[in-house]
Amino acid sequence: MPSSRSPSPENDVFSISTEIVPERTNKSASTTILTFDDLLPKVKPLLLHEDLQEGCGGQLWPAGMVLSKYMLTYHKTGSLLDKSVVEIGAGGGLVGLAVALGCEVNRPIYITDQIPMFALMQKNIALNNLLGRVDAEIYDWGTPPPSKVLENGGQHPDIVLAADCVYFEPAFPLLLQTLEDLIGPSTTCYFCFKKRRKADMRFIRDMTKKFAVEQISYDGLESDQREGIFLYQVQQKDKKQ
Ligand SMILES: C[S@@+](CC[C@H](N)C(=O)[O-])C[C@H]1O[C@@H](n2cnc3c(N)ncnc32)[C@H](O)[C@@H]1O
Repeated sequence: MPSSRSPSPENDVFSISTEIVPERTNKSASTTILTFDDLLPKVKPLLLHEDLQEGCGGQLWPAGMVLSKYMLTYHKTGSLLDKSVVEIGAGGGLVGLAVALGCEVNRPIYITDQIPMFALMQKNIALNNLLGRVDAEIYDWGTPPPSKVLENGGQHPDIVLAADCVYFEPAFPLLLQTLEDLIGPSTTCYFCFKKRRKADMRFIRDMTKKFAVEQISYDGLESDQREGIFLYQVQQKDKKQ
């Protein structure tokens, strides 16, 4: 798969305001060992290779940590069995890989991002021995979903995971389009974001106009909210009527 040294602007870590990108932009590539506060066993942690060479998704982001912990706590057993799971804007694959390692799943999980993140997603799948259980796909928001992501000739996924996908305003309409493409009548999207600017709340307002958006209640919500991190469940509106 091609690799690019000229990432698209939303992926270009050096073109994004330092107010938005965490401070670790200059750190060199390395592998982080994650147990998510012992939600994964110390003997089988998630190994996440981080490398900002190809874009800002090359490091883990705070909302990704929150969503991973939420999934490992509240969806560890039972609820994901027989469900199709797709992560969008996966970066190195943090959330999807955590779910594959620590939650009871019996179908392949798709972790998706733009071309610059493809090699990193694949590396992290291999690093965690998840070949065959997790599949990396290229998926640009606003474009038709990859056929594997819409299974069996067009079925919406059951679960969509989205962490820290709200940070680049020009991509907001594309992200909204992708949510519309992926969220079907039986889909639940777990959408976790960190509010960094006013525009981020505009995105949430637009999302609320199109979808049934509910804040999820979980242990640690207050402290995450103090950090500006919010976790929502997003579903089709008519489902609620
Ligand atoms: C801030 S990172 C979050 C990475 C990971 N989800 C996490 O929480 O650690 C946002 C990700 O969204 C991806 N992204 C941005 N714009 C995109 C687009 N138009 N289509 C697909 N992915 C996009 C970036 O490549 C990046 O990996």
